[in-house]
Amino acid sequence: MQRRDFIKIMTAGGTTLLVPSALTGCDTKQLEALEGWNGPSSDQQDIRILVLSYAVLAANPHNKQPWLIRMKSNLAFDLYVDRERLLPETDPPARQIHIGQGTFLENLAIAATHYGYRAHITYFPQGMYSNTTVEVKPVASIELQADTQVSQDPLFDYLLQRQSNKRAYTDRPISASSLQQMGQSVDLQGYTYQFTQEAALREPMAEQLGKAMEIETAGVARHVESMWMFRFNDEEVERYRDGFSVANSGVTGFKKFMAETFFLGTREESFKVDSSMARAGIDLTYEQARSAAAFGWLISKTNTRLDQVKIGRVYERLNLEATRLGLAMHPMSQILEEYEDMALLQRDHLKLLNVPPGHTVQMLFRLGYAEPVIHSPRRLPQDFILG
Ligand SMILES: Cc1cc2nc3c(=O)[nH]c(=O)nc-3n(C[C@H](O)[C@H](O)[C@H](O)COP(=O)(O)O)c2cc1C
Repeated sequence: MQRRDFIKIMTAGGTTLLVPSALTGCDTKQLEALEGWNGPSSDQQDIRILVLSYAVLAANPHNKQPWLIRMKSNLAFDLYVDRERLLPETDPPARQIHIGQGTFLENLAIAATHYGYRAHITYFPQGMYSNTTVEVKPVASIELQADTQVSQDPLFDYLLQRQSNKRAYTDRPISASSLQQMGQSVDLQGYTYQFTQEAALREPMAEQLGKAMEIETAGVARHVESMWMFRFNDEEVERYRDGFSVANSGVTGFKKFMAETFFLGTREESFKVDSSMARAGIDLTYEQARSAAAFGWLISKTNTRLDQVKIGRVYERLNLEATRLGLAMHPMSQILEEYEDMALLQRDHLKLLNVPPGHTVQMLFRLGYAEPVIHSPRRLPQDFILG
């Protein structure tokens, strides 16, 4: 067999595992943890569960799914942050966690229109708290109101397709007009969306994003926090129904089997910052960033909890709009994270992007073209409801 007939599984610590490309097309079985992506079951009548079934499919940091619901009536409920699902090491102010509340609310509001309802959302009904705490107060109260005038949100059709595509992207360029159209199709709620497809900016950005992953990984506690969310095999995906795995980076079939059996090792081994897993994560980040056809980012002038939630809604709409346009999209957040080791590189990065002093880049993502990946798992809507 020729060398080109082999496919690289992963490169780490200078070791490349090669497997015959003819064996990489094996199907991955449909996991129960992925069933949410088929939409709610047809016998589900409760409008609250119907909209929650779509809400839990939203983008969220590390696929923590940090949401809790307290039902109030047949048509009303409150959304809380699940304080047992924070990321204190990589997201110390829980900024990303609150962006993940907004993505949830956006999916929910879109789904409501499909069923002929309007979702009235009141943010922080018991008051907003600061960026140094996550109080036991609802992020939002939601009231569903049947309305014959409501028309289905055009992005509803993309809720079951949307994903964070973590593959390396193809070298097909994206036109500036597609990138512009993406921003124009979405109500930015007063926030700023910027993008670049210019190599002169894209290339240094990619190097900074790779470097940011090196910095994140060099902190043991940060690396371990991420490794706890990594699912080493299908059995773990089924058991936890959260987190991420090699499948979300496009490694499937026999390649996935080989990676999980021979390469990944155990969680305990992966905890070391010089483990092959740690190196593979860094290498993958460089590869992802360098393959981006474009980068986009969302900026806010202020950085309150409300800004974070609202930015989450805008981000989710952009991700859905990208799906509609056939674009792959993937957040890369390390460089935006708020711990001391990142401060210097973050300062250089904000300078490179020309971000006005005091403004916050809330989301940074790459865009390009790629085959879809296998969806990430989700818990059941019922799992989020407080007893
Ligand atoms: C605030 C936020 C930050 C994120 N940051 C990253 C990131 O740095 N790297 C990454 O691979 N994915 C990131 N993601 C994507 C999540 O990993 C992804 O949404 C989650 O695993 C669920 O997968 P899905 O979006 O494909 O449904 C982020 C998502 C959100 C909402």
